[in-house]
Amino acid sequence: MRFRCRRAKVTAARQIAPGPSVRAPQPRSKRREKPRRFRRFPLWRIEIIATDLSQGVLEKSKAGLYSQFEVQHGLPIQMLLKYFKQVGELWQINADIRAMVQHRQLNLLHDFSQLGVFDLIFCRNVLIYFDQRTKTSVLNRLAKTIEADGFLMLGAAETVFGLTNVFKPMAERRAVYQPNEVPAASVRTSAFVAPASAVTATAGI
Ligand SMILES: C[S@@+](CC[C@H](N)C(=O)[O-])C[C@H]1O[C@@H](n2cnc3c(N)ncnc32)[C@H](O)[C@@H]1O
Repeated sequence: MRFRCRRAKVTAARQIAPGPSVRAPQPRSKRREKPRRFRRFPLWRIEIIATDLSQGVLEKSKAGLYSQFEVQHGLPIQMLLKYFKQVGELWQINADIRAMVQHRQLNLLHDFSQLGVFDLIFCRNVLIYFDQRTKTSVLNRLAKTIEADGFLMLGAAETVFGLTNVFKPMAERRAVYQPNEVPAASVRTSAFVAPASAVTATAGI
């Protein structure tokens, strides 16, 4: 899952700046009302783009339906009650949150630069499918799509160590990385791209 928070500056230039996945500002009357939790960022235009290789996973994410077992994994009960509603034996993310998310099918082994630049990228538990050289390639390309003051979140069992120097760990924040200022010439690169058939698709965004 990727999370894009476009910081809409007060200047008109930034607001109308075109981009691959940046929508032109709509007339005020047509704008969807911002969910309550984002109202404290009135000047931000927040976009969330969820991507996956698997169309089935994307459909599951669009429906936003999760079992009791799934929502019990690290989600505090207060957040469950605040942001989900119970539908039979399942839990569904509230409609205003689902409406904020755009879904795109995307293979991380291919070029994804067309998505633009992000402030926050969640790339959790996906690198585990790749060999070392492919991990390096994906991380180096992620670094090109993240703002200089942005953040990358990996899975708890994943790391950039030994793979690339384009990200540095954030102090006291496990699995959170920030772009590192490294001269282009010293970036560890890999031209190797694993065949898509080497990738196993499983469920869950
Ligand atoms: C273990 S799940 C992790 C899901 C979620 N990020 C999490 O942490 O719970 C791995 C996901 O990566 C997706 N995936 C595997 N290979 C991929 C690729 N080459 N490009 C994009 N997504 C891929 C799978 O379809 C699957 O949904």
